[in-house]
Amino acid sequence: MSLSDLDHTNKRVLMFGGKGGVGKTTCSATTALHYASLGRKTLIISSDLTPSLSDIFEMEVGPTEKPVKGIENLYALEISPDEVMKRWKEKFGPEIYEAASTLIDMEYDEVIDYVAIAPGIQEEFMLDYILERVKDGRYDLIVWDTAPAGDTLRLLDLPYKFIEHLRMAPRFYFEVRDAFKLKKAPFLDLIESWKALAKEVTDFMRDPANTQFILVTIPEALGVYQAKRLVGEFERYGLSIRHLIINNVIQDPDCEFHKARSAMQIPYINMLADEYGDGQMKIIQ
Ligand SMILES: Nc1ncnc2c1ncn2[C@@H]1O[C@H](COP(=O)(O)OP(=O)(O)O)[C@@H](O)[C@H]1O
Ligand SMILES: [Mg+2]
Repeated sequence: MSLSDLDHTNKRVLMFGGKGGVGKTTCSATTALHYASLGRKTLIISSDLTPSLSDIFEMEVGPTEKPVKGIENLYALEISPDEVMKRWKEKFGPEIYEAASTLIDMEYDEVIDYVAIAPGIQEEFMLDYILERVKDGRYDLIVWDTAPAGDTLRLLDLPYKFIEHLRMAPRFYFEVRDAFKLKKAPFLDLIESWKALAKEVTDFMRDPANTQFILVTIPEALGVYQAKRLVGEFERYGLSIRHLIINNVIQDPDCEFHKARSAMQIPYINMLADEYGDGQMKIIQ
């Protein structure tokens, strides 16, 4: 695999997507290492449910940024959905409760837990978190090893679904509606400010000058099928994938087993090349 095609990138976030097991984390780590070695201060974040950065870097990575031992310019972080939720509650909890409690009489935990089960809230917060890291300017590059694809993508729709969740919840809805008629409703102001935040985050992701998506797949029937589905999904969200990594390709087969496997891979590599090779996408093997 050659990373030279990515060398010219000035993007601030590189997102690696693909199904579990195709080599997303491995490719993310390799890429992060590559840029760190070129002198770019790089943070690798894994939000994969089965994070393996700790194994790759042979250290306990965990949910706070840590320098990777023995590698200059490289920092790593593994963050689970539970941790994301915990931080989200810390960040927004008091604000939400304050706004909601002007409308209804509910316990703190009840309010926060209701909001916290909103669809897409974890992804929303993850993006917000990444955008914060970008804005604070401490890193030249953030490499994001995403949760198996599809999930991460859907979040582009989710800020709106999330807002709907808040608006449509009967218990809130009637109160909010009544309050809206009667007095200024801080809860609606809060929803408006979140909408703005969600828009800022999704605009950042949609701007190819900031964010680049790299799809990882494997040269098998399932890999070809999944790549096709994911590329289609990206297009529906107005995003384009500029790089496709075909991982696990057998290079220079030197034994019967590898020769046979290589022969099996070739038709799928060709299919991927035919489908994506002549467009905007660079294929890296
Ligand atoms: N190009 C490769 N060559 C050899 N082993 C690989 C390669 N890519 C991935 N692996 C191995 O395959 C397994 C799954 O890779 P991983 O990066 O964890 O996948 P994902 O993050 O997509 O679930 C790991 O054990 C990893 O070491
Ligand atoms: Mg992984």
